[in-house]
Amino acid sequence: MKSAVSAFQPLTTDAIRAALSTNIFGRMLHLLDEVSSTNTVAAGLAQDGAPHGTVIVAEAQSAGRGRLGRQWHSPPGKNLYCSIILRPHPLPDQLPLWLSWIPLLCAVAAARTVQVVATLHPSVKWPNDIFVGPRKVGGLLCESSGAGTSSIFVLVGIGLNVNIRTHDFPETLRDHATSMAIEANRPFDRISVLSTLLSELEIRYETLVSGHLADLVDEYRMRCSTLGRWVRISLVGNDTLEGLAESIAGDGSLRIARGGSSAGLHGEGIVHVRAGDVVHLR
Ligand code: BTN
Repeated sequence: MKSAVSAFQPLTTDAIRAALSTNIFGRMLHLLDEVSSTNTVAAGLAQDGAPHGTVIVAEAQSAGRGRLGRQWHSPPGKNLYCSIILRPHPLPDQLPLWLSWIPLLCAVAAARTVQVVATLHPSVKWPNDIFVGPRKVGGLLCESSGAGTSSIFVLVGIGLNVNIRTHDFPETLRDHATSMAIEANRPFDRISVLSTLLSELEIRYETLVSGHLADLVDEYRMRCSTLGRWVRISLVGNDTLEGLAESIAGDGSLRIARGGSSAGLHGEGIVHVRAGDVVHLR
């Protein structure tokens, strides 16, 4: 944070550009006032050929989207709502692995940003929720298109609660959501948060491109608070599953050692979960 005054200044393209230390991410930048969802804007731009690393930032979203069809609370002027267009070019047989891991690596980058800027100790709840202690400070919505073609793109949408205070959350979120300002008891300059986030993302994307996925996987495993916990998972559809979150498999899925007749899906054994909503039970 530079000063308490700068923390509340609106975002401007000049100020963002001056703060950027990336080579590619954010060099093509769209700063918008209010949009429905930065991911929706990003999808249109990507379809029109926007280059790899294009960033869309909005002051507010009228229909911010979360994972699993949820809404993302996106009031103006307080938080960070952005989407990054990625155009991955792995060897063809590596594409599924990249598509599985990109959301997880980006979650680590977002968690690291909260740590660097606010000196907090965020963790990642599988797959890509950013938590400080028991409350969520940020989340990612990754969408991809064009798989099987040469023009595949991935939209990485990131929402970070930066300066929002508890009373600004809808009542239903107050017990579950937090912000960097609530946790650190001071406001933060959103431009520093954005420039740090883009650097942390670019570093990890470059590591992936240079063939060091294993290092990124290790980093994810170290950040992931889900490992070793007893969890309940709401699966796509209406099934639930309970068990011990044993490990993250090589493809990014969560390995659950199933147990207990309280589970919605009965029986014992290992299940690999690729998508779902996790609750840490103990
Ligand atoms: C989640 O945790 O459910 C994911 C939240 C993702 C929110 C961000 S805000 C920027 C981008 N645009 C959206 O509509 N959603 C993502």
